[in-house]
Amino acid sequence: MADGEYKPGLEGVPATRSNISYVDGQAGILEYRGIAIEELTAHSSFLETAHLLIYDHLPLVKDLEEFTEAVREHRRVKYRIIDMIKSFPESGHPMDALQTCVAALGMFYPIQEFSHDYVFGTVTRLLAKVPTVVAAFHQMRQGNDPIPPDDSLDRPSNFLYMLSGKIPDPKLARIFDQCLILHAEHTVNASTFAMLVTASTLANPYSAIASAIGTLSGQLHGGANEQVMVMLRQIGSVGNVRPYIEERLAKKQKIMGMGHRIYKVKDPRAIILQKIVEELFETFGHNKYYDIALEVEKVCDELLGSKEIYPNVDFYSGLIYDKLGIPEELFTPVFAIARIAGWLAHWREQLSDNRLFRPTQVYTGLRNQPYIHSDRRHPNSSHELH
Ligand SMILES: CC(C)(COP(=O)(O)OP(=O)(O)OC[C@H]1O[C@@H](n2cnc3c(N)ncnc32)[C@H](O)[C@@H]1OP(=O)(O)O)[C@@H](O)C(=O)NCCC(=O)NCCS
Repeated sequence: MADGEYKPGLEGVPATRSNISYVDGQAGILEYRGIAIEELTAHSSFLETAHLLIYDHLPLVKDLEEFTEAVREHRRVKYRIIDMIKSFPESGHPMDALQTCVAALGMFYPIQEFSHDYVFGTVTRLLAKVPTVVAAFHQMRQGNDPIPPDDSLDRPSNFLYMLSGKIPDPKLARIFDQCLILHAEHTVNASTFAMLVTASTLANPYSAIASAIGTLSGQLHGGANEQVMVMLRQIGSVGNVRPYIEERLAKKQKIMGMGHRIYKVKDPRAIILQKIVEELFETFGHNKYYDIALEVEKVCDELLGSKEIYPNVDFYSGLIYDKLGIPEELFTPVFAIARIAGWLAHWREQLSDNRLFRPTQVYTGLRNQPYIHSDRRHPNSSHELH
């Protein structure tokens, strides 16, 4: 391959063929299996959307009931996983704890022949257990026992209950579920690509999902939502916004929650999330961080609009999670609780027609070099070993 064909970050290079989600970064469109996210957020639930993504169609009522029931049944995690969490450092990041637990779960559920039952069992277990692990680590790092799942609650209410011990207002649970729908899938992003590469080796799906979780944790990907809330708190008041943004830009630092490799307009998920923030604050009380966020968006529009940098999905989601009482360090694990649906859809699609990922490289190193014995190497000479 000639050097000219190399695209840093594989920008614009198709890595797979997929019919799971469609994105138009110029028009600001995102569809799951052809259905606009605006429709799904208004009318669907996260589990119904997960079924749509993974199984390619909206389920019949009886199929959704069966799917929901199976996910409910798998909520508990093995006591040995809980024992393992006890040994984690309290200062550890919840994404690292989640990645470790998901990889460990794979030891309990070894890979099997790729059949309908195996896929159904894997999908429903992972959808069910990821929220339980996130909540368990959150409780245990504070010295509490984990709160067991409550089978009488739906998935979003149960997660919020396991975090706080309180059954949430149904309106808040619905808002949380809408956020999960919006984060459920987004074509071949970095974490999905990492999952695809691992899955293509025919590794255990728990390993493939653990790869994705590790990849999502970075601040250029899922970790940005946590950083947005940190930024809004650091700014502290509307008056501080402009000097804060100008100083960061002068130092060539990024503004978290702004910009996207695909979207050259405001991310359609950010538009919906902003509406949700407004409804949430109207019903449950306002806080100053929304005003600060609006000012950040305005100043960035002025200073970065010419580079087509606008709010992405992470910009407004943190404000919602904060209002729901979810601590900042759980924002990215919450992203994983949603994105697990998209990862599983891509896992199933990849394995239905698998080919090992094995890209090539543009070699830029030396060739035909002599081996220099250690007593003849000089620190400042070209003979120094790298
Ligand atoms: C998401 C992201 C990595 C995509 O960026 P990308 O396609 O790789 O684009 P680049 O990082 O090459 O940036 C292109 C230009 O826009 C600027 N830019 C991009 N995002 C920016 C941001 N959030 N704040 C300030 N400048 C930004 C870069 O500095 C660069 O400017 P230059 O051409 O003058 O050097 C990037 O926008 C970013 O880091 N955003 C902040 C993190 C974030 O919110 N991530 C969540 C994504 S959903």
